[in-house]
Amino acid sequence: METAEQGGGAPRGFGLGEIEMGTSATSTSGGQGGTAEQTATPLTSLKAWKSLRTHYKKLQQTHLRDLFAGDPERGERMTATAGDIFLDYSKNRITDETLKLLLKLAEQSGLRGRIDAMFRGDRINITEKRAVLHVALRAPRGASIVVDGENVVPEVHAVLDKMTDFSNRIRSREWKGYTGRPIRNVINVGIGGSDLGPVMAYEALKHYSDRDMTFRFVSNVDGTDFAEAVRDLDAAETLFIISSKTFTTLETMTNAHSARAWSVTGFDGDEKSVARHFVAVSTNAAEVAKFGIDTANMFGFWDWVGGRYSMDSAIGLSTMVAIGPENFRAMLDGFHQMDEHFRTAPFKQNLPVLLGLLTVWYADFFGAETVAVLPYEQYLKRFPAYLQQLTMESNGKHVTLEGTKVDYATGPIYWGEPGTNGQHSFYQLIHQGTRLIPCDFIAFAKTLNPLGRHHDMLMANVFAQAEALAFGKTAEQVKAEGTPDWLAPHRVFEGNRPSNTILADELTPESLGKLVALYEHSVFTQGTIWQINSFDQWGVELGKVLAQRIIPELESGGEPALEHDSSTNNLIRRYRRAKG
Ligand code: F6P
Repeated sequence: METAEQGGGAPRGFGLGEIEMGTSATSTSGGQGGTAEQTATPLTSLKAWKSLRTHYKKLQQTHLRDLFAGDPERGERMTATAGDIFLDYSKNRITDETLKLLLKLAEQSGLRGRIDAMFRGDRINITEKRAVLHVALRAPRGASIVVDGENVVPEVHAVLDKMTDFSNRIRSREWKGYTGRPIRNVINVGIGGSDLGPVMAYEALKHYSDRDMTFRFVSNVDGTDFAEAVRDLDAAETLFIISSKTFTTLETMTNAHSARAWSVTGFDGDEKSVARHFVAVSTNAAEVAKFGIDTANMFGFWDWVGGRYSMDSAIGLSTMVAIGPENFRAMLDGFHQMDEHFRTAPFKQNLPVLLGLLTVWYADFFGAETVAVLPYEQYLKRFPAYLQQLTMESNGKHVTLEGTKVDYATGPIYWGEPGTNGQHSFYQLIHQGTRLIPCDFIAFAKTLNPLGRHHDMLMANVFAQAEALAFGKTAEQVKAEGTPDWLAPHRVFEGNRPSNTILADELTPESLGKLVALYEHSVFTQGTIWQINSFDQWGVELGKVLAQRIIPELESGGEPALEHDSSTNNLIRRYRRAKG
């Protein structure tokens, strides 16, 4: 668990340029220690919200076919760019009026002020009394972001330099294992934000990685995860990176202890081997030392980095070892470019703001419950899984910053798979089912693996899917093709199904950084509109606590006295009998 740090020094500081202060409907940004200073106007009482409600009633039947037919420029006009990231949002069920009202909603929700508060280091994570400064992780060396009176940017770069030195030693095979053999296998042990970012980034940037090394990721407390990760590896060539912000997470610590036992066995029980085969990434030096890892081999980060916002901190050590420090820094530069775009671009050209507002539009007015993220890029196969924690742990909240139960929908369910595989699986429901599923298509103009006609075919499919969803196929068109009347209804595509297309030049470390930051800031935009805290995660606590109570009941020699509900008691008894 990421425990709340007590105390409330004044987190202040500028340094990323002039910050323009906005007026805010939500003054609960927790500037000083996170206390609510002023009551926010409830979201549903905001003028723009009410106007959007009326506007939705008028627009809900309008078809994208008509919107495009009435405006030949629409496909060129409703686009925005941030560097080489191009967003086509024209296939959304919006008009210029919708956009105007959504942008007003952003203004009336105090988005400008919230962005400034985040970049300034205010403790906007009010329930944990923390600043939210993942943007500091990618700030250039000379920048200044002050937390509790201290510029944190030099510390960030000191850790990056230490990671660089370590990565170079591993990659050049200079760092030797306990018996003098070079490290060829790296296993990251972590879970949640200490796993999903590293796995996603490794898969996404595999093209840039050292192909003579093996990278694996162990997260699940299911012993199968660990057993399969090490079954063909030699301990003498294997390095474990134990990644845990708190260094107390049950799954990670259980896997870390199993890793140590496996590794030490490979050296005939010699515990001195641990120093050459284990490093840690954490904020908790005391626990790292207790585990037996020399804190000289620990890479730190800070409480102002949320787990799901940490892939560009030391949590990315496995990424840096895989792709090299230069590529890692290029990724950070990509993040930073998107941060600057988010901070400075006018909202109507601001990609994260537009994506965030469109998500609110569908979730709260159309009642859409999910968003499908569909990368047409095989290397991004773990991107939807990564986004699930980023979006749902952030915006899966039912009370406002002030603790009032919301009376509108908050974070939608994010899901997805790479195209074209999804087309032969769940796309049927998106095209012809009864639910509205806004889609984000992600594609790259250049492929990293040119192979005959493959890339043109892939790109033809992504463009075709967005076109088919938006425009569909009418009954008249179906009949004109000679389809018998009885079959025609089955072959009709209603269309009017919205999508965004995000098109970049090529998947590089830099473009990956931009893409991740785009979604991070879209999540922030959504959370601001919904007046929720996107940076805590109390919802994961109850299950953890109950599991701790059940573990001894499963392991005890004698029959335990069970005081759960009758279903849980029965399941525990049945499991105990079955395991023998
Ligand atoms: O699932 C809850 C959570 O706290 C996540 O937010 C976090 O990414 C994950 O657990 C892992 O935490 P840690 O890095 O402290 O092991």
